[in-house]
Amino acid sequence: MTTPSEIKAEILRLTRAYSQALHKANLPASESELSFNAGVSSIPYAGRVFNAEEVEAAVGSTLDFWLTLGPEGEAFEKELASFLGVKHSLLVNSGSSANLIAFSALTSHKLPAHKRIQPGDEVITCAAGFPTTVTPILQNGAVPVFVDNDPITGNALVDRFEAAFSSGKTKAVMLAHALGNPFDVATTLEFCRKHDLWLIEDNCDALGCTYSMPVSRAHALGFKENSPGIPYNGTHITRYTGTWGDISTQSFYPPHHLTMGEGGAVNIVHRAGLKLYAESFRDWGRDCWCPSGKDNTCNKRFEWQLGDLPSGYDHKYIYSHLGYNLKPLDPQAAIGRVQLKKLPSFIQARKDNWEYLRNGLADLEAFFDFSLPTHASAWTPEGFVWDDSGCTTDCSWFGFMLRVKPQAPFDRTELARHLEDKKIGNRMLFGGNLLRQPAFLQLRKDRPLALRTLGDLSGADALMNTALFIGTYPGLTKPMLDYVINCISTFSRDALSKGGRI
Ligand SMILES: Cc1ncc(COP(=O)(O)O)c(C=O)c1O
Repeated sequence: MTTPSEIKAEILRLTRAYSQALHKANLPASESELSFNAGVSSIPYAGRVFNAEEVEAAVGSTLDFWLTLGPEGEAFEKELASFLGVKHSLLVNSGSSANLIAFSALTSHKLPAHKRIQPGDEVITCAAGFPTTVTPILQNGAVPVFVDNDPITGNALVDRFEAAFSSGKTKAVMLAHALGNPFDVATTLEFCRKHDLWLIEDNCDALGCTYSMPVSRAHALGFKENSPGIPYNGTHITRYTGTWGDISTQSFYPPHHLTMGEGGAVNIVHRAGLKLYAESFRDWGRDCWCPSGKDNTCNKRFEWQLGDLPSGYDHKYIYSHLGYNLKPLDPQAAIGRVQLKKLPSFIQARKDNWEYLRNGLADLEAFFDFSLPTHASAWTPEGFVWDDSGCTTDCSWFGFMLRVKPQAPFDRTELARHLEDKKIGNRMLFGGNLLRQPAFLQLRKDRPLALRTLGDLSGADALMNTALFIGTYPGLTKPMLDYVINCISTFSRDALSKGGRI
């Protein structure tokens, strides 16, 4: 064992053995052999799900010591773009960075003037959710216009968009698919097409969700039958969320559908040209597009004359945007590549776990309003009942959300505390109504015109006051889910029998 490849093989053999011995608690439920000790073992709401393959990939890439985004990153970008069926995916160091880069790309001076988002332009978004869906709008000097959320789906109330629109000012719609529940893509896109607006999809919580619309509606929006990876069923065009708008984002932080530790991606859906702007903002603002470690991809490195720089100034050091450096590392991408191969099974596990919880909690409807996928009007054990829009959604759930009804004999926070005592991880819907957060109150005090709200935000308040979610991630085993169901049922019934009212 003297050659580097022999030594590496031995290190990786030991790495696998080490991981198999140490990381038993992180296996997907389907591979788990750990026994669950009710009330003693913790049930996280989410977490890293991996086996020795990811650890081996991380160690292998670290031994190769490329370090900065390189061969693994390049391969992961291609594989992710191919999975989604988008033109390009660009890796970044978080979902928040992805949102910042996606939005910043649309401020590029290289865009036609009427499409460029400039300071003071307005962007329609919704009030409840994760802050960094919205903060890039403000960080770029644009004005977010907040519409209310539907408390049942967690998504934006699309019938508020026309009232939120301001001619000559509105340039884009930027929305998250809440907790793995696609927003009403058809109505949103029709609104965007009518007013020539960008659609930025924050797909951070929704990798693997699909949205279907009747073929006539999809054709009118410019979509064809041949969605990559998803067969055409003869009546509806189905695509992954994150592939309907102009640009979309992913987070690869551990609770998300796949992880590379810290990480994220910007997906360029149709217009290949946006890649150059996104890449420029990600990579210091530079004009050059050579990947790390490569020079002169344009074959005229010393032949450019841009700005007031002298002719022949090195293209590597020409900056066409006020950019950032938001790249991840190559070993992170190596982990992401292994996770991506497992994504279909992760997506299925999230769907199965949601359904298992929904069935198990079905007789608690007196206490809770359960979330519904967008376009569903009811849940039944046989499946969802769909509204008459002709559109349907298939959720790759980030979590299982429920809202405590006003007449329940406990409130949401009491339930959250009880679950915590029982070692059941739970979360509120991120920042709730963001406009009630200290940062946003301060912003309105400092700069009252920095944002706008449209009408009442009672749906966002309802989510803030009554919602919580528990896990659906692929590490959850049936005994864990049974324990969660049992704890929620017992807590609800005990509260009722202690004299609470319904
Ligand atoms: C909808 C949404 N967007 C963006 C983010 C930010 O992702 P990250 O934590 O990778 O920055 C999150 C985080 O969970 C999120 O839920």
